[in-house]
Amino acid sequence: MEEAVIVLNQVKKRFGKFEALKDVSFTVNKGEILGFIGPNGAGKSTTIRVLLGMLKINSGEAKIFGQDVWKEDVAIHKGIAYVPGDVFLWPNLTGGEIIDLLLRLNQQQRSPETERLIKLFQLDTSKKARTYSKGNRQKVALIAALSQEADVYIFDEPTSGLDPLNEQAFQTEVLRLKESGKSVLLSSHILSEVEKMCDRIVVIREGSIIEQGNLTEMRHLTRLEITVETQEALRDLEECSWIHQLVLETDHRAHFFVEQDRLAETMTLLSKKMILSLQSTPPTLEDLFLSYYKDGSAQHE
Ligand SMILES: Nc1ncnc2c1ncn2[C@@H]1O[C@H](COP(=O)(O)OP(=O)(O)OP(=O)(O)O)[C@@H](O)[C@H]1O
Ligand SMILES: [Mg+2]
Repeated sequence: MEEAVIVLNQVKKRFGKFEALKDVSFTVNKGEILGFIGPNGAGKSTTIRVLLGMLKINSGEAKIFGQDVWKEDVAIHKGIAYVPGDVFLWPNLTGGEIIDLLLRLNQQQRSPETERLIKLFQLDTSKKARTYSKGNRQKVALIAALSQEADVYIFDEPTSGLDPLNEQAFQTEVLRLKESGKSVLLSSHILSEVEKMCDRIVVIREGSIIEQGNLTEMRHLTRLEITVETQEALRDLEECSWIHQLVLETDHRAHFFVEQDRLAETMTLLSKKMILSLQSTPPTLEDLFLSYYKDGSAQHE
């Protein structure tokens, strides 16, 4: 039996007349990494602030470790590590001092684990925070959160300022957390970023959860964008049902989307036509939302 650590049930949150969360229901189980994705303004950070007891909901239920996140926030916080989307740091303290301070605020202290993480993310902890780039500010918050002993780790778009090497370091660390039985809620607006490590994905749009499931169940969302140029004409691509939004720029140059599990047969077909150039891009969620969810309903063409 799966043990739910975070439970959100029909949560609604209004700011004045604006309904930021209309219907948010999902759970995060123990030992699970949950990817929480949606475009800008969808309600990811608002949901996370609700979970942290920073915003009071208008109706519904929000619980962590079986306790109400608003009423029991002090007790719950002992078991949570959190990295906000917009990291605030005290400008006149050094990175090292801030890591110590963040740990102390959570009744914890610097450990060999902290030192290992500082080395891993290659952060110069002797510099004052006001000199840090966005990526370095994010590293300070990540190092402090990852070296905390907690049961639940919540990251709000943690890799948006990190370069690929540091992003990979972050992913490795999150997988370590999972291996030791921790639960992770990871928000992002890029599907390809979370699909590598998440067990399940929840998609939010305009304050409502519109999709959730494991990666296999979400396959239909992961279409690749392909631009190809071939020696032979490409017109018969029009007859392939698994090729979507086909645009024939010329007889020999096409642009389309293809489901990942149909990629192999697409490549076989294309290679028969003598490929001159081919470019494939994994879709961002924004692309998907723009093309499939324009009218609020899932239209797979
Ligand atoms: N304190 C607030 N007062 C009024 N409106 C708010 C407040 N906080 C958030 N909102 C609105 O609620 C909606 C959801 O915002 P939220 O920050 O949760 O989005 P998000 O999914 O985190 O987006 P992003 O990817 O840009 O971080 C937005 O339309 C935002 O303008
Ligand atoms: Mg946000």
